[in-house]
Order: sequence, then C-alpha cells, then structure tokens
Amino acid sequence: MKLTIAVLPGDGIGPEVTNQAIKALKAIAAEFGHSFVFKHADVGAVAIDKTGNPLPEDTLDLCEKSDAVLFGSIGHPKYDNDPSAKIRPEQGLLRLRKSLGLYANIRPVKAYKKLLGRSPLKSQVISGTDISIYRELTGGIYFGEKQLSKDGNTASDLCVYSRHEIERIAHLAFKAALTRRKKLTMVDKANVLESSRLWRKVVTEIGKEYPKVELDFLFVDNAAMQLILNPKQFDVILTENMFGDIISDEASVIGGSIGLLASASIGDKHALFEPIHGSFPQATNKGIANPIASILSAAMLLDHFELTKEAALIRSAVEKSLTLGITTPDLNDKFDNVTTSKVGDFIEDYINNPNDTNLNFTNIHLGQSTII
Ligand code: IPM
Ligand code: MN
Repeated sequence: MKLTIAVLPGDGIGPEVTNQAIKALKAIAAEFGHSFVFKHADVGAVAIDKTGNPLPEDTLDLCEKSDAVLFGSIGHPKYDNDPSAKIRPEQGLLRLRKSLGLYANIRPVKAYKKLLGRSPLKSQVISGTDISIYRELTGGIYFGEKQLSKDGNTASDLCVYSRHEIERIAHLAFKAALTRRKKLTMVDKANVLESSRLWRKVVTEIGKEYPKVELDFLFVDNAAMQLILNPKQFDVILTENMFGDIISDEASVIGGSIGLLASASIGDKHALFEPIHGSFPQATNKGIANPIASILSAAMLLDHFELTKEAALIRSAVEKSLTLGITTPDLNDKFDNVTTSKVGDFIEDYINNPNDTNLNFTNIHLGQSTII
C-alpha cells in the first residue's frame, strides 16, 4: 500500500516521540513491502514562532492532501501562564480537528499485565481492563461561542450539539461495541444539561438499531468514580468532547502511565493519529519521554487502513518491550538509561526480527546501541 503521511511533530517532546513512531512505520513498510512517504510540517508553538499562526495554511494544505496525519503534541508554558495570549498553540490542533472534520476521537485504555503494579490503583481492580473511549471531537463547549464582557469580568463558553453530530459518532461507537464485548456506556450530565438530554435521546434511538449492544447511561461525575472503582465494567464509552477529554486522562492512570495512551481521530474524509499526552516541556530533548503512545498511535493508523497484521506486529513489539522492561524511566525502576530513541530502536528491531528476541537479552538487535 502507498500512503502519504503528514507528520506534525509540534512542540516539546512531540518531535522525539513522533520520530520513534516513524521508525516503526518505516520498519513495517520495509517488512511488508509498503511505501509510506512522510512529509513534515509545523504546528503549535513552533509554528507561531515561525509564522505567527499555530496552524499555517501550508500545514493544513498538506494534511488535506495526505492520507493520514501523524501528530506529536502541542503546548508551551509561555502561553499556559498567559491567559491574555490571543494566539495559542492549542488553537492549531483544534482548528486542524475542525477543518479536517475529525469528529470521532477513539482512545483505547488497557491494563498491561506487566505494568499492573505500576498503577496507583490496586492490580485486582484494574487487571483485565480494556476500554475504548469514543470522544466527540469537533463540537460542544470547545467550539461553541465564547464571550468575554467588555469589562473583562464575565465570560461564557456555549455548549452546542446537533442531532447530526451525535448520530455520526454514536453509530461508530455502536459498531465498535459489536466487535468487542457489546456494551456501550453513554457518559453525560443529563440531570443538568440540555445538551446531555439531547445526547441521551438520540443515542437511545440509535441504540434500537443495535439490539445486540447493551446500552447504559452514567452521569459523568459517577463515571469518574466508577472508572477508578471498577474499570472492568466498561467496554465502549461514548461521550461528548469535554467529558471525553477529562475522563480519558483519568483512565490513563489505569495503564500505569499517560505515556502509553494512543488515539485516532476519524472523520469522513481524513484521519489523524496522536498520543493523548501533552508536550511535557520539562522533558524536551532529555530522552525520557515515553514514545509508546506515539508508536501505538501509528498502530492505530495501520488499523485504519486495514493493515491489521502490520498493526498487530507493532503491538506485539510494544508488549515485548514492556515485558522485557525496555521502557523509559516513567515505567522503569531498574534502568534509567533506556532513552526514548532506544525504546524506538527496540521496537524497530523487533519488527525486523520478530522471532529473534528472547528474555535473556542475548538476541536483541539494537543496532549500534546497547540497552544494558
Ligand atoms: C487532548 C488535549 C487537547 C484537548 C488540548 C491540547 C487542546 O488535551 O487532545 O486531549 O483538550 O482536546
Ligand atoms: Mn486532553
């Protein structure tokens, strides 16, 4: 398969983790005879520094013309600490999602056996957790009208949803549930919000088209608690933009590190793949950023194009790296010298030699680098 992939590394640790995902994709292309062409462009704070615009026209153009977008991360403290900044890196990502029509953000959450002990939650609580969060991504309070009064003392953000916006992601979530454990939990705040009541109504109607899927509803405050109390009860979670943002960060604790959570953002024409973590500015260029979320986002990219064997190979490379403890310091008590790029080297090497890796480290091909 021939794919043109727009690469938007962005800010902070974005470039270093994205590089590892590219290494994995290049190894997959070589192994399976695909042709992946990578074209880079700026987004976020780096783009503001160069052009004054967090999403320059050239970048959007490239994304529109490409088959998929591989995204790093955006954000810079100089904007976070300045509420009056009119231009912000995050606007680049939000505009990109809106312009490409990426309305469904899929965030898988899994408790890896090897990492059960790393979560602050008890192993018996999280063991076996396997959740797929479907977060609406181009509507709601993120994109509703924003107002600030003239005196600067009153502000508002409108949360608007239309039936159409709810329907299209609901169908995707129900279809996903059919391929999984056939349970869909809609998370909302229907006891308070009109927009949530519309979600419930529309999702209930659509649920009738999927009689095999068990549908239930949770208020978001309760869902936040249930995720920690008993995450195994969830299969597919469907929710609006803001609630999905919050509960997916919360759910990342189950896996033991936010550095593991990948995501796919899908629309009718375009698709973008990005880790859920931010730009982690303090870690930039220190080699400590966990590249797994970015690498697993690349696996989601492959799945999107129905390259399932290829995606599975990346996932087994990741599992192997976790099992062997070839992980960055966020997940590694034993070795503090396993850098971002060494994890990438291992994954790349595993893809090249999937049967040639064993628990004694003797046959691990790591190019010129040595892990231990
Ligand atoms: C995410 C991020 C973004 C969001 C920010 C960077 C705008 O937190 O992808 O979850 O809130 O959607
Ligand atoms: Mn977020």
